[in-house]
Amino acid sequence: MRLSIIHCALALSLASLGSASSRDKRYQYLTVTHTVTGATTEPTPWKWDVNATTSFPIHESCNATETRLLQRGLDEAVALAKHAKEYILRYGNSSDIYTKYFGTAGTGEAIGWLDKLVSGDRGNSLFRCDNIDGNCDQAGWGGHWRGSNATGETVICPLSYTTRKPLDGLCGYGYTVISGALNFYFASDLIHRLYHVPQFGEGIVEHYADSYEDCLELALSDPALSVRNTHTLQYFALEVYAYDISVPGTGCLGEPASSPKPNQTTASATDTNSTPTSSAATVSRSLFVCYKALRSTC
Ligand SMILES: *[C@@H]1O[C@H](CO)[C@@H](O)[C@H](O)[C@H]1NC(C)=O
Ligand SMILES: *[C@@H]1O[C@H](CO)[C@@H](O)[C@H](O)[C@H]1NC(C)=O
Ligand SMILES: *[C@@H]1O[C@H](CO)[C@@H](O)[C@H](O)[C@H]1NC(C)=O
Ligand SMILES: *[C@@H]1O[C@H](CO)[C@@H](O)[C@H](O)[C@H]1NC(C)=O
Ligand SMILES: *[C@@H]1O[C@H](CO)[C@@H](O)[C@H](O)[C@H]1NC(C)=O
Repeated sequence: MRLSIIHCALALSLASLGSASSRDKRYQYLTVTHTVTGATTEPTPWKWDVNATTSFPIHESCNATETRLLQRGLDEAVALAKHAKEYILRYGNSSDIYTKYFGTAGTGEAIGWLDKLVSGDRGNSLFRCDNIDGNCDQAGWGGHWRGSNATGETVICPLSYTTRKPLDGLCGYGYTVISGALNFYFASDLIHRLYHVPQFGEGIVEHYADSYEDCLELALSDPALSVRNTHTLQYFALEVYAYDISVPGTGCLGEPASSPKPNQTTASATDTNSTPTSSAATVSRSLFVCYKALRSTC
């Protein structure tokens, strides 16, 4: 019955197209009467993200102080990853810092891996403080991924709470991106630990190159792998945060330990008259070219 009325209305509507005089008739069957009888129970609205875990679970084995310091470190890790993501969203591969670390790789994957830390569900991860595998007894251990003992779990040892620096101290304490340790700041240390957890790194973000120099090399030799390299993502995040937020417009990149002087490189042998410019972008670009040259000629 209802169907036939709709058909009728449609037929009338088509028949009257273009005819101004009968235009009003097109709508004569569209009156709808909705009778509400008594109190109705509205159906429960669909909640697509039911049971989502939006904060990092911290185990009860962490005491009050550890919990607060760890929570702060995780918040800082998210802030560090978030800025790196937003930097790529803003500048893409037009940034020399981007191409230095990721070569010709498209931007979507690095954005995605960083966003996993910023916006991803945290329900299959757990941070604990109870030295359950006994690894914290080893000198110098700040923590560890539990691996096959519990892939979603990370132990943070007491050493971390007394040594890892706050993100607000980035560029302080004599730290530079090139020569500083990636675990100097709790934020960058925790980015590393988070990528070991399958929920964030998916077994794809891994260790493919470790030192600063090796990370730059990877950008040239295998850009597709560079966007999945844990240390590359850490170096990149630290460099752009330092430059944009910690010491605006300056940062604290530092000097490459093995950086050849322009007059000492094979690469510059054919170009001895070139004078170095002071532009940060040019310096960054020439570093990129320099490492390329090292790779193929030295
Ligand atoms: C949410 O959690 C409740 C309680 O644990 C459970 O009964 C329910 O199945 C969960 N729903 C989804 C969609 O995970
Ligand atoms: C930058 O990305 C564009 C596409 O947006 C691409 O055409 C270009 O080759 C890329 N440049 C580099 C250096 O990767
Ligand atoms: C797993 O637990 C055993 C002891 O139960 C320990 O020897 C081993 O180091 C642990 N694995 C990791 C990755 O911590
Ligand atoms: C919490 O644990 C740390 C070690 O990580 C320890 O130094 C501190 O005394 C503990 N705090 C309390 C209140 O037990
Ligand atoms: C290279 O340049 C530096 C200054 O930048 C200078 O001190 C050094 O003597 C030069 N070395 C050679 C071999 O020309």
